[in-house]
Amino acid sequence: MKNTHGFGGFVGFVRFGGFGGFVGFVVLAAGCHRAVAPPPSDPMLDAIRAEERTAGLSYAEGQGRQLFGQYCSTCHGDEGKGDGQNASNLNPAPPDFTTSKTMKDAAYVRRVIAEGSAAVGRSPLSPPWGKSLRAQEIEYLVAYCHALASKKS
Ligand code: HEC
Repeated sequence: MKNTHGFGGFVGFVRFGGFGGFVGFVVLAAGCHRAVAPPPSDPMLDAIRAEERTAGLSYAEGQGRQLFGQYCSTCHGDEGKGDGQNASNLNPAPPDFTTSKTMKDAAYVRRVIAEGSAAVGRSPLSPPWGKSLRAQEIEYLVAYCHALASKKS
């Protein structure tokens, strides 16, 4: 008898905490939904952002700093002091960004980065990045170079 079986099933559902289970399911589903809304925090990214804030860098300068560490600091040194690992092999040596007068000129710096130091009548030792980096990345680098050049210490 189908009907009796169906009713019995329902009674069983209510009696054995089926309803509680149902409520639990709704809460769980709502919980899952909420977890999706904010992007999961990435501890590595948080650490990098915190470090940038303490270093007093803007977002663009922070991005430039990452790129600088990847492409430039081997010659220029992390802080642009001209003391990178490869600096002693270079003649002329990479200048100290913090004391260089030309570093104050953003258009000049952008040109050196995009077209290489030869483009401004210097040696060809600082490579041209215009073809291997995006325009936005070059702007980030200009921002970071500017931050380094304006550093007091
Ligand atoms: C292979 C070593 C090397 C790498 C890599 C390198 N540079 Fe250079 N850079 C130099 C040298 C050497 C000079 C000085 C050239 C000269 O005076 O003839 C220089 C000069 C410069 C200058 C001009 C500085 C001033 O005082 O006017 C800027 C700006 C610069 N580099 C930015 C960068 C950036 C940004 C990167 C990375 C995207 C980079 N360089 C990568 C070696 C390097």
